[in-house]
Parts: sequence; C-alpha cells; structure tokens
Amino acid sequence: MSYRTFRDFAAVAEQQGLLRRVSKPVDPSWEPAAMVKWAFQGLSDDERFGILFENVEGSDLSLCSGALGASRKAYALALGLEEAEINPRWESALVNPLAPVTVQSAPCQEVVFTGADARLGDLPIPTWTPGKDAGPYLTTTVMTAEFGTGNQNTGVYRTQVLADDRAVVNLAPGRGGHGQCATWWAQGKPAPIAWVIGAEPAFQLASVATLPTGVQEMAIAGGLQGAPIELVKCVTNDIMVPANAEIIVEGLLQPGDMAPEGPFGENLGFMNPGSDKPVATITAITRRSDAIYYGISSQMPPSESTVLQSHANAALTLKIIRHDMGERHVHDLHYDLTYGGQMAHGVIAMTPQYPGHGMKIGRLAAEVSALKRITVVDEDVDIRDTRHLDWVMNARYNPSRDTVIIDNVFMRSAMDPSVEAVDGVKMGSKIVVDATRSVPEDDFSLPHKDIMMKALESWKSAGLPDFDIPRRAQLRIDKS
Ligand SMILES: Cc1cc2nc3c(=O)[nH]c(=O)nc-3n(C[C@H](O)[C@H](O)[C@H](O)COP(=O)(O)O)c2cc1C
Repeated sequence: MSYRTFRDFAAVAEQQGLLRRVSKPVDPSWEPAAMVKWAFQGLSDDERFGILFENVEGSDLSLCSGALGASRKAYALALGLEEAEINPRWESALVNPLAPVTVQSAPCQEVVFTGADARLGDLPIPTWTPGKDAGPYLTTTVMTAEFGTGNQNTGVYRTQVLADDRAVVNLAPGRGGHGQCATWWAQGKPAPIAWVIGAEPAFQLASVATLPTGVQEMAIAGGLQGAPIELVKCVTNDIMVPANAEIIVEGLLQPGDMAPEGPFGENLGFMNPGSDKPVATITAITRRSDAIYYGISSQMPPSESTVLQSHANAALTLKIIRHDMGERHVHDLHYDLTYGGQMAHGVIAMTPQYPGHGMKIGRLAAEVSALKRITVVDEDVDIRDTRHLDWVMNARYNPSRDTVIIDNVFMRSAMDPSVEAVDGVKMGSKIVVDATRSVPEDDFSLPHKDIMMKALESWKSAGLPDFDIPRRAQLRIDKS
C-alpha cells in the first residue's frame, strides 16, 4: 500500500537511507538547493538520498527536497512497491482510476492564516539556481478549476515569489492549468488557484503526468495509491485539495494581472529567460501545525523533476500503446531519467509478431510521445541496463536496415536546445531504432542454466561474496 501521507513516506525513507537530515542552519537563498544539487550531480543513483533541512533561516518550518525522486528505488518506495511494479501499477491506475472522496476536516487545515497573516515569506521557499534565478520559487503541485463545472486540473507549475502576498505562476497557454484559468477570465472573474505542498506521494507523482484534457489526475492518484485521495475544500475558494497535505497556499488570479516570470533554471539543463505570466494574490495559507515544506528540485539533469516526469510519462506512453492501440506484445517501456520524457530516449521491450513489428511500435511511440530517440528491443533484454542495451545494439542492430529518421517534427514546447528556432518555431527530428532480432541467432555463449546455478552454489560454498543476480544475467541464463 502506498503511503497515505508524505511524512509516513519520509520516515521510512529515512530508515532506508533514502532521506538524510541536515540540522545545521541553512540559508534558503542558496544553500539547500545547491546541496540538493550535489546529491544529484555528485552521487550515483544507488547512493542518492533526499535531504530534510531542519533549520532553515527565517522560517519555523523544515524544508525537504529530492526525496520522492531521488532514484527509481525512492520512487518505488513512495508507492510502496518494488521497482519492477512501477509500470504495472501506473498501467492499472490509468485503466482503473479511483475517484477521490470528500472530508470535512483536514490535517492540512490545522493552522489557518488568512489576509495579512498569510505570508509566503514565512515558508522556507528556496532559490533553486542561486545567483541566476530571479528569486525563490514554489515547485509543487498547482490546482485549478474550470468555471461552472467543478473539473479540476493538477500540474506542477513553478511559481516565483514576488512579495508575501503575490506570486507569478508559470502557467503557459496550452497547459491544463492555463486552460482552466482562462474559463474564469473569459467571464471577467478571478480564477481560483491552490498550491499543494507535501501531499501524499501518489498525488504528487500523478500530478506531473501530462494526461489528456479531461482525465482527472486525482483519480489516477487514487488508482496509484490503491485508495481514494481525501479532499477538503480550501478556506477562501472552492478548490478541493488533498486533506493530508502538509501545506496549502490559496490564491486568486485576476484577469489581465501579468508580471515577468524568470529567468529560471530549466529541467533540460539550461537557463530560461522567462516571459510575462499570470500573477496570483495570496488569500490563505493553511497547514499542519508542524508542517514540512516540500519543494521538488529540478534544473540540471539528472534531477528529481526528471525522475518524476520520466516515470509518469513512460507509463502513459506504455498505456497508450498497450491499451489504446491494443499492442499487447509490448511488455515494458523505459524513459531515460534525464529529460523528463521530453526529447528523451525511450526504450521498449516487446515480442515482435511479424517482420517490421518492432519498427512499427517504435514509430508509434515516436508519434504519441515527446521522445526524441526510440529504441525497440526483444523481451530478453533489461531495458534499464545500459550495458545490456549496448550489447544488443552491437549484436542485433544493423544501422542501414534498422533506422528511421522522422524529420520536420514541430517541437511543441519549443525547448529542444539542439535545434535553432526559425521565426520563433523549432522543427526538430526523431530517430527510431529497431534492435529486435531480425535474423536467426545461434545459442548464447553461456553454460546451460543448470550448470550456472550449480556454479552459484560452488561460488557460495567457496566463501566468495554474495550478490543479487542482475536481471541482465537472469534473462541470459534463462535462455542458455
Ligand atoms: C519540478 C517541476 C517543475 C515544473 N514546472 C513546470 C512549469 O513551470 N510549467 C509547465 O508548464 N510545466 C512544468 N512542469 C511539468 C508539468 O508539471 C507537467 O507537464 C504536468 O503534466 C502539467 O500538467 P497539465 O498537463 O495538466 O498541464 C514541471 C514539472 C516538475 C516536476
């Protein structure tokens, strides 16, 4: 069962070495973000942990970052799963969403600040790219509502603090949140908004998935969690927010109120100069009495942001291919954890049914995702093991036969740094590699499985160090 509160997850993550505490005082204008950057830039995936800063100058609250997306292991733990269960759980959540339920009282409203008492400056909001960012940013789930219907959207949209009661939200046209706010502005009314900080892990992980309009992220979050998300009404607007969150910030976006947002470090590894974006006026801050402020770290990959987005978007592409396109011979799909799924590398495992099937699936993935590179392999390959993939590329891939370049692809987010903009538009390209077996193969040059397993007993009785059999080796031995 997935953890029902962020703090329950944090406690277990700490026990498992996936979260460390820092008790010395830290300056939020540079120190926590730069330290978390070392966790991502300096440590390997296996070593990495999130950090809980207990003593942030200028705030009574602790600050946590990097914990949910420290690694695939941390991501799985957040959902109470083994790593191999992540895609199947996502698939089942997308196919069988679980609607949220409403509650009347909520931990996230233990303490309520409204009017002049609701001050963003009281929260330990970090500056994420110190020396380059325009200022501190909230990096958490943002909830909006559609006028007249009660439909809600969730997405992580960075939000720059302008003053204690003002923030500029990176709500870009085309995004779900912007579309919903526009329905209020079209009536000449302010759009309600809420920032959800430190919600239960499933909610946070679901909110970064780029779901089709109309799909309710909260119901997907319920499916991921294995239990409905409990929602409570905000105190100053009608948005329904997760009751078990640590902190909720409530606000209103007046029509036409815009301000420059940025510059800000982007998740693709470069600074973004920014542009004018909608401004929110803060109407309330509600929280647990001993709330933990959670900020998702982003910027230069690998980052927490890319780990969270890659997992969500890989699962979404897999669901489209398997369920909407009916391609049940596709078994698994992995997005490299560095670009969050945009312009990234996706690797697909499948059992081809006819000549050209691998290439067909690769082209399909190219069409329905924002991936730049797609590699398709057989089911006997560990798609998350780069050494196994290198072997496959050497053993089964014939570049002139097995490559397709798709040219003139409109870059929806206009962000691909390798492509120059012409008249403000970027036209990129994609590559599809079919590295599934095209010609009959000889036997693997490994002893038969029974000999390998007997040799493992000899290994143990000889007192050699114990190890977990890597999936790459298991897949090979099973076929030997
Ligand atoms: C830390 C972090 C920061 C993000 N910042 C933004 C942002 O400022 N603007 C944006 O459009 N997407 C941003 N994203 C990506 C969106 O949250 C994601 O694509 C989400 O699916 C958008 O929701 P929507 O599809 O309902 O619009 C961010 C993701 C993360 C994890």
